[in-house]
Amino acid sequence: MNRIASARAILAANDRGGYTVPTDRLYPFQWNWDSAFVAMGWATFDAARAWREIERLLEGQWEDGLVPQIVFHAPSDDYFPGPEVWGVEHTPPTSGIPQPPVLATAVRFVLERQGPAGIKRARATYPKLVRNHLWWERARDPERSGLVATLHPWETGMDNSPAWDAALDRVPTETTTEIRRRDIGHVDAAFRPRGIEYQRFIHLVDLFRETGWNARRMLEISPFKIADVGTNAILLRAERDLLALAEQFGDGGECAAIAERIARKETVLAGLWDEALGHYLSRDLIGGHLIPIRTSAGFLPIFAGLHGRAPALAGRLEGWRDRGIALVPSTDPDAPSFEPQRYWRGPVWAVVNWMIARGLQEAGEGAVARSVAADTRRLIGDAGFSEYFNPLDRAGIGGEAFSWTAAIDLLLGEGEGR
Ligand code: DGY
Repeated sequence: MNRIASARAILAANDRGGYTVPTDRLYPFQWNWDSAFVAMGWATFDAARAWREIERLLEGQWEDGLVPQIVFHAPSDDYFPGPEVWGVEHTPPTSGIPQPPVLATAVRFVLERQGPAGIKRARATYPKLVRNHLWWERARDPERSGLVATLHPWETGMDNSPAWDAALDRVPTETTTEIRRRDIGHVDAAFRPRGIEYQRFIHLVDLFRETGWNARRMLEISPFKIADVGTNAILLRAERDLLALAEQFGDGGECAAIAERIARKETVLAGLWDEALGHYLSRDLIGGHLIPIRTSAGFLPIFAGLHGRAPALAGRLEGWRDRGIALVPSTDPDAPSFEPQRYWRGPVWAVVNWMIARGLQEAGEGAVARSVAADTRRLIGDAGFSEYFNPLDRAGIGGEAFSWTAAIDLLLGEGEGR
């Protein structure tokens, strides 16, 4: 099978009836940001299936506009924590937290890719995206600072990033839920978050569930509260894509409201730049300080359209590349907390690379964008469609036959993102 056929075959094998699981067994449900990237991958060869992915994800949308991190379409014992732990009343069952909001970007991508034939389904999807972006502001930035808060590491998608370590230390390790991890039955525990992190992850779930998933209470009481540079950059990008959709499907008032949010977000996101580290950083909203650790999320403001720092950030990537480090490690390889195999503490993730490459390309840093895209393609070509990759020895690690890795390979194979 050639490479394109192999990537398509992974999406087809992980298709569970209109939604795509990230990979068999390890992640047996529909994940929010996975599906947004996967929809873009489907769009390269099956636009109808791409729309279905988006529509099935939105079956999980709550009344208040939240698009949850997980939609539990069908039961499975392969994953912890399942719907009974989340205790959310929704049909289909869902988790109770968001994930990075790539969805509006995916909808615009699928529409532009398909052309006029996609207008009907895009028009039907548009009001749900509007409600979701209003949710982000109301639930996570009620004072309209321009930065949304993240209350659980799982919301960032970068669960065990060293950037969360100090803030996570404030979270107690006691849980009312019995922890029965399934992930380490599927992949090597050395590639996954540690036990103590899971205790804190589940403590937060217990805490939020006890509020009845009340957004205002969660924001008040969470001991973990971060302005994640990744989530905020992805949201700013999504607002720009939503504005493009609003110009086609919305009214003047909606366009003005989105444009106002964009202007506010541009200013405050720029304020996450740290001159000493020469990188964009996340802010701890309880301590008030920038978290002094460089991660791959710190490149994403370029994807959000902030291009002024792109040359400096491109220079850092070139420096790593010239030392033989595969781009882009999720944690600065010179940081003491860097671990090349452990999930978000070092490994390379294809979806992050796609966003970084696209941002660099748009910022006029075409050569580095091509390096990031070429490294991604080489890693996948040599090691397979793994969940993530060791940036030092370039091995594929985590889950195998991974949907979003296949989707990104399809996109990069066509030159999308560079
Ligand atoms: C997990 O369970 O590992 C996921 O990253 C949560 O979204």
